[in-house]
Amino acid sequence: MRTHYCGEVNSKAINQLVELYGWVNKVRNHGKLIFIDLRDRSGIVQVVVNQDQSDLFALAEKFHNEFVLQITGKIQARPAGLVNSEMRTGEIEIVVTDIIVLATAEPLPFVLDEFQTAHDDLRLRYRYLDLRRQELTEKIWFRAKVAKKIRQYFDDCGFIEIETPMLTKTTPEGARDFLVPSRNFKGEFYALPQSPQIFKQLLMAAGFDRYYQLVRCFRDEDLRADRQPEFTQLDVELAFTSEAEIMQLIEEMLRQLFKELLQVVLPNPFLKITYKEAMEKYGSDKPDLRIPLEIIELTDLMQNVGFEVFAKFAHNPQGRIAALCLPNAKSLSRKQLDGYTEFVGIYGLKGLANIKVNDVALGLQGLQSSILKFFDKETIERIISRVNPKSGDIIFIAASENKIVNEALGALRVKLGHDHNLVSDSWQPLWVVDFPCFEKTETGWTFLHHPFTAPVENNIEEILKNPGAVMARAYDMVLNGTELGGGSIRIHNREMQLAVFKILGIDPVLSEQQFGHLLESFKYGYPPEGGIAFGLDRIVMLMTKSKSIREVIAFPKTQTGSCLLTGAPSKVTASQLSELGIKV
Ligand code: AMO
Repeated sequence: MRTHYCGEVNSKAINQLVELYGWVNKVRNHGKLIFIDLRDRSGIVQVVVNQDQSDLFALAEKFHNEFVLQITGKIQARPAGLVNSEMRTGEIEIVVTDIIVLATAEPLPFVLDEFQTAHDDLRLRYRYLDLRRQELTEKIWFRAKVAKKIRQYFDDCGFIEIETPMLTKTTPEGARDFLVPSRNFKGEFYALPQSPQIFKQLLMAAGFDRYYQLVRCFRDEDLRADRQPEFTQLDVELAFTSEAEIMQLIEEMLRQLFKELLQVVLPNPFLKITYKEAMEKYGSDKPDLRIPLEIIELTDLMQNVGFEVFAKFAHNPQGRIAALCLPNAKSLSRKQLDGYTEFVGIYGLKGLANIKVNDVALGLQGLQSSILKFFDKETIERIISRVNPKSGDIIFIAASENKIVNEALGALRVKLGHDHNLVSDSWQPLWVVDFPCFEKTETGWTFLHHPFTAPVENNIEEILKNPGAVMARAYDMVLNGTELGGGSIRIHNREMQLAVFKILGIDPVLSEQQFGHLLESFKYGYPPEGGIAFGLDRIVMLMTKSKSIREVIAFPKTQTGSCLLTGAPSKVTASQLSELGIKV
């Protein structure tokens, strides 16, 4: 029977006989001695086989990386000069008395060490091998600890964890549904939940009062570093609550997680900014406050400017002209500047003007830019006074429709921050509040959160008259530029819900078809309530400083949503299809 994990053998037990199980991390044959680094989930220990132990030595000579061994041996202190202080077990080694080979291993498709540069696809194809790397093993363990602490926290706060269905009806969160055909109901489909939104609301209607769940959600949407088609939410709902109570509950959870797992003290309370301020200052509803740059409004200063490109947007109610000032940027080359212009082009910005501030003390003479000729002296002075640059700075100016300027400067702000080492090594959590309920698209109104979010305005007529002016009782939590979670107080009456559906273009018939079960529940004593959901993968990604949520999911999918390990999605047999009544 195993006596120890490899990484846990230590010098307190010198001379003790141990039995270990693990993988050969490395073998080194020194002629008279063979050293085996034996690895298991806890770490590595050095095992020594002596030439005098001829049978074992002959066996060990054939070992390769990733053989699986059972080792019996004695713990001994390493000779003084050979102690490895970088290894947890570096003071000792195991002198073998017996070895059993439990499995051999062919050469691996890639090398397992922290410096390995194997292609992502290859690592995903052999995910079980990649997971043997300590870095990944530790992340998966860390994730489990986060989940455990979250459960503990919510249990302590009087919440109950309840599972909600996976085979269900559409639960709109702004993505497409994954559909599941049904053998018993040919031509009809379940949808996998985009979130448990409606079920958690119905749990409030059922009187559970405080619910949480660590739950898998499914969204068919474009993938990115922080998006997977299936991911895990920490989902929370409370009856008889308020925005303030929910924010306080979640902040405290995060403060505890960070304190206990990372020894990091997060602020109390977190910063709170409005959606409007976030968009104006940072061009994003998930601003990374580790970057000190802020977008500066110039629209009002451009009202009398002759420069046509700027004048056009200065007089357009949907237009915006705004600046970003990059400090100490004198040495930026033409090529780098062109690179930034090209970069903002991705967001639809047609150009990016810049003013080099060579010497601020020289006033107009100290500025250098091809656009200055279009401005009168007073306008330039007002721009400089508003932006307040130092000598050596560059002011970037963008003019376009509001949305384009925000997106472009928002992205440029982050890029400049990273390119010029302006990102502070800190944790910057914040709440974004006061969201509009609806957003206008080319085809009509859409929601910013989801259709169940309560408007601040209670008067249905007013809401229907001017949806663009309606604010939502919603809040998002952002950490270092990543949206970690979002939630809201919910609509809890039928008329309001129908009005919101109407604005969203969901007619009464469709409302009944899709959401009849929710609408009906409003008739039978539905409490006022609200909640929030967090991306567990994202929390763990940030806490482990990973680049993508893929690194903290045991079996993730690729950027296009396929599983390289299993080959999913895959074709199915003709008989399966016919059973389901499906023709492809
Ligand atoms: P929302 O859609 O904002 O809200 O989702 C909540 C959080 O889930 C995470 N998330 C994702 N993580 C990884 N991959 C994805 N594809 C993905 N999509 C979302 C994010 C996000 O902040 N029902 C509401 C919550 C509520 O109102 O209570 C909802 O799902 O971290």
